[in-house]
Amino acid sequence: MRTPSSTVVIAGLVLIGVFTLFVKRPPRTATEIAAPQTQVGPAVAQAPVAGPAGVAAQPSARSPPPTGAAPAAFVPTVVTAAWDIPDPDTLPDDIYGRTVGRGRDLIARTSSLIGPDAADPTMRHAGNGLDCQSCHIQAGTQQFGIPLAGIWGVFPQYIGRENEVRTLEERVNGCMERSMNGRPLPVDGDEMKAILTYVRHISAPERVGQALVGRGTPALPLPDRAADPVRGQQIYTESCVACHGADGLGQRLDAAEAAETGRRYRFPPVWGPDSYNDGAGMARIITAARFVHGNMPLGTTFEAPVIPPGDSFDVMAFINTQPRPHRAGLEADFPDRSNKPVDAAYPPFVGPFTPDQHRFGPWQPIQDWLRANPAAARAIP
Ligand code: HEC
Ligand code: HEC
Repeated sequence: MRTPSSTVVIAGLVLIGVFTLFVKRPPRTATEIAAPQTQVGPAVAQAPVAGPAGVAAQPSARSPPPTGAAPAAFVPTVVTAAWDIPDPDTLPDDIYGRTVGRGRDLIARTSSLIGPDAADPTMRHAGNGLDCQSCHIQAGTQQFGIPLAGIWGVFPQYIGRENEVRTLEERVNGCMERSMNGRPLPVDGDEMKAILTYVRHISAPERVGQALVGRGTPALPLPDRAADPVRGQQIYTESCVACHGADGLGQRLDAAEAAETGRRYRFPPVWGPDSYNDGAGMARIITAARFVHGNMPLGTTFEAPVIPPGDSFDVMAFINTQPRPHRAGLEADFPDRSNKPVDAAYPPFVGPFTPDQHRFGPWQPIQDWLRANPAAARAIP
């Protein structure tokens, strides 16, 4: 028998690789959201994939019909496939499925389950009226909506704010103490376990360890001028006030609606006592502008942004100079000052820049200075 030529061997390996990708593709789900790449080539049959509970998940009704597409046509969709989020609703009603579902509820209905409206006062860990979902859009399944999908394999990870490696539990509690202006969840408690199980589930274990395009918020070029809160107020009045209110306090649900939905707000407050505190990531204008550009007004996606970059910086400059809860001890954040984000608006400040320049920019000179003087930045007491 003749040995196959190297071309044939390589072609065979490529086909096997493509086939493996094809088989590993997770099922499409009802919560699946638009992905950045439109699918090139004909739709491909969905292979049932064994879920974490060991059961084959059913392709949902929205799966494209099977066709006899050649495997090669599937190649361009690899990145797209990485954003198919497994749907908790397709899980069986067993302990694993119920734990995932409970995790999703904790993300979407935080205020009534572990927040100020929890029936049991000892369960009131979150200190404001927000839900995790107020910022982690669509229960953490939205690309560039600060997704929780895809982060299972990313932690433990170095976090500059504490200058240490932090676990996913610690990162969740970082948002509990700042974004939710509350106190940490017990790390070994049922609620933390459910949140982690949900994050693992929507992260699709077969993709763990791969970088997902769509983490965090979309990058924006830094403006070469300072963000302008006065202009920001006009933008707020034009584009945000309808939902978040002239007083920034959002639109609270009445008691019956709140009981039914498990949420305190139809539209969450962007400032005031029921909003995130001044130590939260959203209180930093760069982070917040990226969020707004990619996600606001509600329903916006990063693919079709509504608020231009400059306006996003200005409107968050306005919002983030309105009153909100204060977190004590912020000066202890970022013990390695060379890692302090340039837009952190609280002291100590690094470099020869005014507090206002840290808060509103322009940030590029600060970033350049930090890059050139890491040792000097570290030395600041
Ligand atoms: C006010 C907005 C807001 C709320 C509410 C909020 N977060 Fe966050 N969260 C953020 C921001 C901003 C980041 C940082 C994103 C970045 O670095 O780009 C973040 C990051 C995270 C991360 C790390 C994500 C990553 O990619 O590394 C986790 C996990 C997380 N939050 C969990 C939660 C949980 C659980 C809740 C509810 C208990 C919650 N958050 C509530 C704004 C919020
Ligand atoms: C159509 C209603 C609507 C409009 C208009 C809108 N938002 Fe939102 N916004 C929401 C909702 C709803 C959420 C929470 C997401 C969820 O619960 O699904 C949210 C969340 C937010 C958050 C994070 C949570 C919080 O309360 O701090 C910020 C910040 C924000 N919006 C800023 C803006 C800005 C700035 C504008 C104007 C450019 C804007 N929004 C316009 C409905 C809206």
